[in-house]
Amino acid sequence: MKQKLKLILPNRKYALSYLKGEKEYEKDKRIIAAGGGTNLFHSPEDFYIYKNRMIERRKGINLGKDWVPSTLYWAVVGEKFVGRLDLRHRLNKNLLLMGGHIGYAVVPSERKKGYGTEMLRLGLKKAKKLCIKKALVTCDEKNIGSKKIIEKNGGIFENKTKNEGIYKLRYWIKL
Ligand SMILES: CC(C)(COP(=O)(O)OP(=O)(O)OC[C@H]1O[C@@H](n2cnc3c(N)ncnc32)[C@H](O)[C@@H]1OP(=O)(O)O)[C@@H](O)C(=O)NCCC(=O)NCCS
Repeated sequence: MKQKLKLILPNRKYALSYLKGEKEYEKDKRIIAAGGGTNLFHSPEDFYIYKNRMIERRKGINLGKDWVPSTLYWAVVGEKFVGRLDLRHRLNKNLLLMGGHIGYAVVPSERKKGYGTEMLRLGLKKAKKLCIKKALVTCDEKNIGSKKIIEKNGGIFENKTKNEGIYKLRYWIKL
């Protein structure tokens, strides 16, 4: 990785690049892994509506049923948006079983450059700042890339769970 990857809060400066990335994500069903708010953000003019929604989410305002407060980060390299990472501030029953503390997705054209691994590393640092002592990170059993990312970041496998026919591998990472 030549340029340094950063995790930042949504920033207008990267809005066009973000929207370009989202167009690529649309073709990939797995993006729910680190989703949210995309239905609010279709053009640069929508940026502040989206940003305010993300602030509400972070503060736990107007959360949907079974949602916990979470922080949505954009991963950027230079001027480019390359992925997003969602850090859930605590676990509820569903997250404990399937979703975990952190979800992430790399823009398809930016994959296999080490960004996913770096995003999780930085996301874990953010989790530590929230006083999370042990982070739960999960992935689909068949998601080789994500499995490697978790293991490279110190994930200790606990078990496999099943929901609606999908097997999830559950890992804990001590912070
Ligand atoms: C899974 C995902 C995050 C990987 O991101 P990435 O930036 O390509 O990951 P990295 O470049 O850091 O790769 C980490 C390792 O996984 C490997 N890898 C990545 N994608 C892979 C794939 N599709 N198949 C096999 N191996 C893969 C890389 O080669 C690398 O291996 P290495 O450590 O032996 O060199 C990305 O494909 C993605 O966003 N997928 C959709 C959303 C998702 O699945 N999120 C994770 C669930 S929370």
